[in-house]
Amino acid sequence: MLKRGITERGAFERKAIAQMRAGHGWWPVALTLLAELQDAYQEADEELLEVLYAHTAGGYGVHKMTRAGRMQALDARLADELETRYGTHTPISVHDMACSNAITSLDMYRSLSDRFPVSVQASDYFDALWTVTPDESVFTVVFDANASPVQFVGRGMVISASHREPFRYPLNGALRALLMKFVLPTAVSLLQAHLESGGNANDADSDQGSIRHVRLFHPKCLAAAAESTNFRLVRHDLFATSTQPSTQQYQVVRVMNALTPHHFDADRVREGIRIAASQVEPGGLLLLGRSSEESDGAARTTAYVRKDDHLTSIWTLNDGYEWPDLVDPEISTPPA
Ligand SMILES: C[S@@+](CC[C@H](N)C(=O)[O-])C[C@H]1O[C@@H](n2cnc3c(N)ncnc32)[C@H](O)[C@@H]1O
Repeated sequence: MLKRGITERGAFERKAIAQMRAGHGWWPVALTLLAELQDAYQEADEELLEVLYAHTAGGYGVHKMTRAGRMQALDARLADELETRYGTHTPISVHDMACSNAITSLDMYRSLSDRFPVSVQASDYFDALWTVTPDESVFTVVFDANASPVQFVGRGMVISASHREPFRYPLNGALRALLMKFVLPTAVSLLQAHLESGGNANDADSDQGSIRHVRLFHPKCLAAAAESTNFRLVRHDLFATSTQPSTQQYQVVRVMNALTPHHFDADRVREGIRIAASQVEPGGLLLLGRSSEESDGAARTTAYVRKDDHLTSIWTLNDGYEWPDLVDPEISTPPA
């Protein structure tokens, strides 16, 4: 049996997504659709966009689940705190790390902008995909931000490049073996050559194939960033260490739903918190938390203030960050 995938917008896509949502059946969804949605996004595409984000990963075992509006109470509490500390005329700078598609960063930016001059930098390490179509191939290969292959997309077909196809679809399995052998090596060398030539975040067309860099930020966030330099979307590693120190500091650094033992071991979480804290300017705030249910649950958050090289908890929302023991009160700034 051959399993079809969702590769185009239209009647099949709408029916398949409705059935998946109702818990009837499953279809692989082509990540190449993200590029199409960025070029021509409409509110009606939101369901498809959600399914696509659910098919992307933010590293091993880390999902990219996020949703507009899930942190409204936190945004309001933060705005009150900032007004008390800085008044309403001081420009406020924020770094929202591990923001996924940045839709909650955009919520925060809009909410704070109503009260202060504010600039928000939203960052994520897994911020983009690459799609590579070798010239002689009818399949496009999708790679993640680390240039690891994740999918082959052909007409009506989505074959996983990262996992075996289910045994009940032997034809998909056979096709996968052929694609891994004959298409993947060409796509890998095209992408490597592009990255080595400094192509980084650019598209490229050559007589050997075409390469596209597809950002994973929500189309609404890309539009907001194009409109104002006060809302920036960047690639940034939470664990950027002394080899790539960040000299920039912010009045607010927020890390939600990322620095948790669900995603990383405790030492790694501690390290991430230490690095995030070093980016808070003296007198500024570090916000750490997790949504109690992955999609819409209340955001359990603790706000810490930086005084000299100490972090002190000043308030909690919904019982606070669940792992306060992982927060080292002494801040050590990585050497520049
Ligand atoms: C569940 S999402 C959190 C999204 C958003 N902060 C929210 O709460 O709605 C976790 C994010 O962590 C990101 N991530 C994983 N490892 C990272 C790293 N080393 N540096 C930066 N971001 C990372 C993933 O790409 C993913 O987007």
